[in-house]
Amino acid sequence: MEHIATHIRELEFTPAIRIFHWTRALTIVILVITGFYISWPFLVAPDSTDVLLQGWIRFAHLICGFVLTAITLVRAYLFFFSHRNNERRSFRDVLNLRSWIAQVKSYFWMGNLDKAGAYGPLQFMTYAVISLIALLACITGLALYANVYHLGVGGLLSDSAAWITWLFGGLAPLRIIHHYLTWAFIIFLLIHMYMAVWSGIRFRHNSVDTIVTGYDYHKVHK
Ligand code: HEM
Repeated sequence: MEHIATHIRELEFTPAIRIFHWTRALTIVILVITGFYISWPFLVAPDSTDVLLQGWIRFAHLICGFVLTAITLVRAYLFFFSHRNNERRSFRDVLNLRSWIAQVKSYFWMGNLDKAGAYGPLQFMTYAVISLIALLACITGLALYANVYHLGVGGLLSDSAAWITWLFGGLAPLRIIHHYLTWAFIIFLLIHMYMAVWSGIRFRHNSVDTIVTGYDYHKVHK
């Protein structure tokens, strides 16, 4: 029997993009949990004085913080300079009012969503905003870090950290802003996971699997 292809397979996300996506997801989850613990440590009566729970949790927060800072920078570089331009192409839709209307209508089951790149305009802007929030979390986090650790990287960052602390109106507001940003990640994560599954069902293509395997499938129009 002759095999007739009904779908074509297309590489959507390179291995680098997928690895960074999942490492970022993991670090953000750990940062949210450890950050809330740092903010409000629940102390338990210890059997000995040799307990450093807060210390270990802060250590995990800092390791994940530095990993997230590195990924945020590399990911920004890849957005602008990667040889694959499917992310950059999406910006065309952001500048086109028709694409915004088409995306919103498609969410109400009216019409299709034909995109110039990997993302629709609303999706693109959401990712742009959360990337800027991640950058701000890294900047405020590094400033908090440099205020506590005065040697090594902390020492290197001390002048810029002092300036950032001044810009935010002092150490206390800086810490509060860093804390508030945590909620932006929690809200984003919930909506992002819901939309990833929902859009796969709505538009009948790969959803969460695309960011695992890298491939998406499109129906062949005859
Ligand atoms: C998704 C990103 C991040 C989230 C959600 C997050 C969350 C938090 C939260 C909730 C706190 C507690 C603030 C408070 O005292 O109320 C905190 C503290 C802190 N964070 Fe982050 N953070 C993130 C990224 C970073 C990064 C990139 C760094 C930089 C290395 C960093 C370094 C710190 C430091 C040094 C503290 C203060 C620890 C202390 O006071 O002992 N964070 N973070």
